Amino acid sequence: MRKFVIAGNWKMNKTLPQAVALASDMREGLRALEEIDVIICPPFLALAGVRDAVQETTIAVGAQNMHWEVEGAYTGEVSPRMVQDLCTHVIIGHSERRSHFGETDTMVNHKVVAAIAHGLTPIVCVGETDDENRAGKTQEVLDRQATQALAGLSAQQAAAAIVAYEPVWAIGTGRAASPAEANDTSGLVREVISRECGTPTAAAIRILYGGSINPGVWPDIIAQPEVDGGLVGGASLIADDFVSLANQTRAAHAASLGR
Ligand code: 13P
Repeated sequence: MRKFVIAGNWKMNKTLPQAVALASDMREGLRALEEIDVIICPPFLALAGVRDAVQETTIAVGAQNMHWEVEGAYTGEVSPRMVQDLCTHVIIGHSERRSHFGETDTMVNHKVVAAIAHGLTPIVCVGETDDENRAGKTQEVLDRQATQALAGLSAQQAAAAIVAYEPVWAIGTGRAASPAEANDTSGLVREVISRECGTPTAAAIRILYGGSINPGVWPDIIAQPEVDGGLVGGASLIADDFVSLANQTRAAHAASLGR
């Protein structure tokens, strides 16, 4: 049985005091959710403050990106060793990094490999653009992104990663994928992982959905058998909404145990 996940990607929002305040606002509501993994991913500069704010809870803290080299002349970058000191998870290859900052599948792979080498759980993002979707290229794009992201990992290492299917057309648009779309496409990603890493890995790896998740649409999406959790943007900046999404995820996890 796959342990469900709810992860908040705060993107480039919140100063340090604002981030600590938001984490503190969520803390009580997220406290008693051991059955699922709850992860919050603030900006780098707020990682230490947020980590301290959620101490002695089961809330995990993740970064939103990192470089793959351990140290060196890479002005402005943050290394896996620095991230490792502050958190347990790291989002890799978000579509905003791919589109705004030129991250390639090869760079994504270097980062995934580095994350695992440093004991971090990568949350690896894949997803097609609107144009690719309309052109019928979704399967081809996801196949390429997932295959290259996980290249070189052992079956066991890949099983411990988390994959997030985030269709670019659903991110920040208010137009979430339908439950059937989220399920079918997550299933496609799982098939690619099965081919590349073997069936036990595909059966164990968590595949999240992301894109315009809110408490109104989430129960129907998380009820899908191929969806093991969510990566939330905008709604993760609203404490009550994120706590609601976490509770909905816990309820879906409990329901899935009986299926
Ligand atoms: P929204 O939930 O704001 O659409 O963002 C999704 C996302 O990009 C999470 O990584």
